[in-house]
Amino acid sequence: MGGIYTGALVSTSLVYRSAGGYELLMRALYGRHYAARMSAVAAQVPDGASVLELCCGPGTLYRRHLRGRVGGYVGLDVNPGFVARLRRQGVDARGVDLAHSGALPRADVVIMQASLYHFLPTAEAIVDRMIAAAGERVVISEPVRNLASSGLPVVGRLGRSAADPGVGGHAQRFDEQRLDGLMGRYAERVLSAFPIPGGREKVYVLSGGAPTEPGAASASSGPPGSSV
Ligand SMILES: C[S@@+](CC[C@H](N)C(=O)[O-])C[C@H]1O[C@@H](n2cnc3c(N)ncnc32)[C@H](O)[C@@H]1O
Repeated sequence: MGGIYTGALVSTSLVYRSAGGYELLMRALYGRHYAARMSAVAAQVPDGASVLELCCGPGTLYRRHLRGRVGGYVGLDVNPGFVARLRRQGVDARGVDLAHSGALPRADVVIMQASLYHFLPTAEAIVDRMIAAAGERVVISEPVRNLASSGLPVVGRLGRSAADPGVGGHAQRFDEQRLDGLMGRYAERVLSAFPIPGGREKVYVLSGGAPTEPGAASASSGPPGSSV
């Protein structure tokens, strides 16, 4: 089963070991803008759309902002703890190392939030795959204020602690210039680009690759637990 990740998370950063701990960290990092960061992304998802979320983490975007109004949802993440917890809650979450997996399930909207840096230095490869999987649009929201190298020691430590999801750490991050440079490759697809409230992340909305074909494996048709 290509790309399914089953290895032990021996090097996983502490914050990735529990969904509660992870959400506490995000609250600390984003402060009063914590909820707004996901509202900004959710607002780009039309009612009834099928959604594929890459690097879904503990599934906060779906659980707090999308459930009940989208036509289907699949979340992908390498962290087996996050995936198992979501599946216990009846969410179609699938364990996969996206750095080493094949074609993505199709969906109207394909989303990735705060995770593109995990795919540096060749992040365009995952963006290309997202575009190919998206019938309608791709939504990418990425931190452009580098918390990991913050001059404030506590904030820097918190930011760096989110570096290793269990498949290796990622010293490289985006700043706005680097993200804009990457998105320049997709200039003809950019529908909008804007900062989230507080400016910590920048959202890019791109047009998708091709319409979802009827009957194709997708975020709206796949049974919970089917493989990527
Ligand atoms: C900073 S968290 C973001 C989680 C969520 N999207 C959010 O905004 O709160 C990054 C997520 O990416 C996942 N991740 C990192 N590398 C991955 C990979 N190669 N394949 C799949 N998931 C990965 C981690 O397990 C983690 O859940």
